[in-house]
Amino acid sequence: MDHHSPLSAPEDARARHSWLCAEIELHNRLYYEQDAPVIADAAYDQLFRELSRLEEQYPELLSPTSPSQRVGGRPVARFSPVKHRLPMLSLENAVSEDDMLAFDQRLKKELGLSTETDLVYACEPKMDGLAVELIYEDGVLTVGSTRGDGMTGEEVTRNLRTIRKIPLRLAMDHPLPLVEVRGEVYLPLADFQRLNAARDEAGEPAFANPRNAAAGALRQLDSRITAQRPLALVVYGIGTCDGREFASQSEFLQQAARWGLPINLVARTVTGIAAVLDFFRELGSQRDSLPYEIDGLVVKVDAFALQRELGAKSRAPRWAIAWKFPPRQAITTVTAIVPQVGRTGVVTPTANLQPVEVAGVVVSRATLHNWEEVARKDIRVGDHVTIERAGDVIPAVVAVLTERRTGAEQVVAAPAQCPECGTPTVRLAEEVAVRCPNFSCPAQVRESLIHFASRSAMDIDGLGDKFVDQLLRLGLVRDLADLYTLTRDDFMQFERMGDKLAANLLTAISASKERDLARFIFGLGVRHVGEQTAKSLSLAFGSIEALAIAREAELLTVRDIGPEVARSIRVFFADQRNLQVLAKLKAAGVCPAVTAKRVGGRFTGATFVFTGTLTRFSRPEAQAMVEAEGGHAAGSVSKKTSYLVAGADVGSKLEKAQALGVSVLSEDEFLNLLAALPGQETLMEEHADATVPHHKEQLDLFAGQSGAAATGHRR
Ligand code: IVH
Repeated sequence: MDHHSPLSAPEDARARHSWLCAEIELHNRLYYEQDAPVIADAAYDQLFRELSRLEEQYPELLSPTSPSQRVGGRPVARFSPVKHRLPMLSLENAVSEDDMLAFDQRLKKELGLSTETDLVYACEPKMDGLAVELIYEDGVLTVGSTRGDGMTGEEVTRNLRTIRKIPLRLAMDHPLPLVEVRGEVYLPLADFQRLNAARDEAGEPAFANPRNAAAGALRQLDSRITAQRPLALVVYGIGTCDGREFASQSEFLQQAARWGLPINLVARTVTGIAAVLDFFRELGSQRDSLPYEIDGLVVKVDAFALQRELGAKSRAPRWAIAWKFPPRQAITTVTAIVPQVGRTGVVTPTANLQPVEVAGVVVSRATLHNWEEVARKDIRVGDHVTIERAGDVIPAVVAVLTERRTGAEQVVAAPAQCPECGTPTVRLAEEVAVRCPNFSCPAQVRESLIHFASRSAMDIDGLGDKFVDQLLRLGLVRDLADLYTLTRDDFMQFERMGDKLAANLLTAISASKERDLARFIFGLGVRHVGEQTAKSLSLAFGSIEALAIAREAELLTVRDIGPEVARSIRVFFADQRNLQVLAKLKAAGVCPAVTAKRVGGRFTGATFVFTGTLTRFSRPEAQAMVEAEGGHAAGSVSKKTSYLVAGADVGSKLEKAQALGVSVLSEDEFLNLLAALPGQETLMEEHADATVPHHKEQLDLFAGQSGAAATGHRR
C-alpha cells in the first residue's frame, strides 16, 4: 500500500458521514420539495459544516453522492465535450390533426399492419427546456451532459448536480453497471417570474422565456450560480442500459420513477390515434394552468420492439413525432408606453399593444420590466414588436422590428413625477428601478392591499382588486390595518353590495387573523421577501417582533438570505410608518402564530439513540422527528442518553443502555410518545408565550401607534 495514502477513516467517522448525508438529504427534501423544514437553518448549516469537515479530514469519504457535491465548487474554465454513446436525436414536427393521422397511417404501413389496427402510443407533454443526458455508473451519477449537436454535448455534471430533483444515486437494490437516461431540464414558471423580478431590481436584463433562463443557468461555468436557479428535470428516455431490458416506453417510465428519477405525471399511454387527438385537446386546455411551459405533445410508439423495427432517419426517429401547439409569439404594435406604480413604489413601464391573439388569448399589454430595458431595446411608441407569452405570465416584448419603422415612432423616458400622486420620482444609486417615494401614494396602497389579501398571503376570500378600489375611493382604508376595523355599514356603501356579501367579506377578513406567521410576513410585501423567504424568516425568528429587531448579521444567518434581502428587511422595519401599521394590526388582533416548527419542543434536552433494524420509519425520519421536537439524536449510548429506541436485531447498544439504566423504547412506544405530545391548541398557547416580547426593546417597539414610543432603543 502507498504510504502517502490519506488517513483511513475510522468506523465511527464513516458511520457519522453516512448519517450526515442521509440527514442532510432528508432536510433538503423537506425544505425544497415539501416546503416544510423541521430544523432551523443554523442547525442545518451546522450539519453541513460537520459534513464538509469530515470530508476534508477523510477525503475518501467524499463520494459523488454526498450532498456537499450539490452546491458546486469553483468555476470551471470551459466545458469539456462529451460524446454520447447513442446519438441524441431530435423530433419531426406535426402541426395539425391531419399530420397526426398521416403519421399513424405511415407507421402502420411500414409495420405491415392493417389501417384498422390501433397502435399504443406513449403521449408526453413536450417540455420547453433543454435536453440532457445523465449517466449512472453502478447507480451513481457520474456524468451529465447537454445534447449539443446530438453526437457531442458539453459536460455540465456539476451544474446538473445542483438540481435537487436529480438523484445522485439511483434507488436500486443491485446497482446496474451503466444506465443512461435522457430528459429535459426546465425552469418552472413561478421561478422564472421570481428570477426576472430579481433581475429587474438588480438592473439585469430580463429573460424572454423560461427556456432561455434555464439554458443560461445550465451553461454557467460557475455552478454556484446554477445552484441559485431552481431548475427542474423530467426524464423521458433511455439511452444505453446494461443489465436491464424494457419492453416499452411506459414500462421504462415506471421503472425510472421507482429509481427515484422525476417523470412527468401528465404523460399518458393511450390506444389508437383517436385517443391521441383527444389527449392533445385536453392538454391544450390545461396548457395555461400548468406550472411549466410546454410547446406541444410528443407522441411515441410505446413498444420498443416496434420502435426498433421502424428505426430512425438521420436526425429523428420514425417512431415519434412532436405535435406542436400554436406558437406563443406574435407581432403587433405598441400604442403607448405607460408608467405603472407597484406596491413597493417602483414605477414600471408597460406597453399598451394593438390587441393580438397569441395561442388562444387576446393580448393587449406587455411588461417592459424597467426603463433601462426600454432604452436598451430601444422600444418606441408606434414600433412593431414581437411579443411572447409564457403560460399565465404577462407577455414580454422580445424584439423590435426596426426595419418596419417609419420615423414617426416616439421615445418615452422614465417619468420625473409619480403618475398617480405627482411626487417627484427617485432613483437609488445602485438600482435601475425608478420609484415613487411617497409611502401613502394611492397606487402603492392599492397594490399592497391586493397583495396582502391574496391567496398565498393572508387569503382574504373575495377581497380582490375591484373591492380594494372601492375601499380606497370611499376613503375607508389607508393602510393594511384599516381592513380589520371595517364594518357592515362600510361595505354597504359599495355599489352592488348585499347583506350576504358584506357578511362574507367581514368573515373572511376576520378569519385571516388566524393565518400563520409566514403568510403574514409575505403579505407585508417587504421587497425581495417572497413566499419561501417568508417561510425561512418565520421559522428562524418565530415572531414579527423578533424579526423587526433582528440585526442584519442575524438575518444573514438565515438560509437563502443574502445581503440584499437582509438590507431590504432592515429598511422595512426601520420605517416608522411600517411599525405603526404593525402596531395597529396587532391592536386589531392580527397576531400570527408559527406553525411548521415547534419552538421549544417537548423533547428539548432529551437525547435519543436509534438502534437495530427500524421498520416503522427510516433512521433519518426518526432523527428528524426528534429534532422537530427540539430533541437531539445521537449515534451512541452514553450516560446522557434519555431513550434508546430499539428496532429488530439489536446488539451491544441495548446491553449498554440497560447497564446505564437508560430507558428503552420499541418503535411503537416511540411513536406513542410522539403522539402523546400536546396537540395543536397547546402548541399555539406555547407560541403565544414565545411571541410575547421578552426584551424591553421589543415591548417598546409595538407599545403604541404614536410612533414616539417606537423611536428609542434602536441602535
Ligand atoms: S423524445 C428520439 N420526449 O424535444 C426522441 N423529447 O424536438 C427524442 N423534448 O431534444 C426526444 N419533451 O429537448 C422527447 N417528452 C419528451 C420531450 C422531448 C421535450 C424535447 C427534447 C428534444 C426535442 C426534440
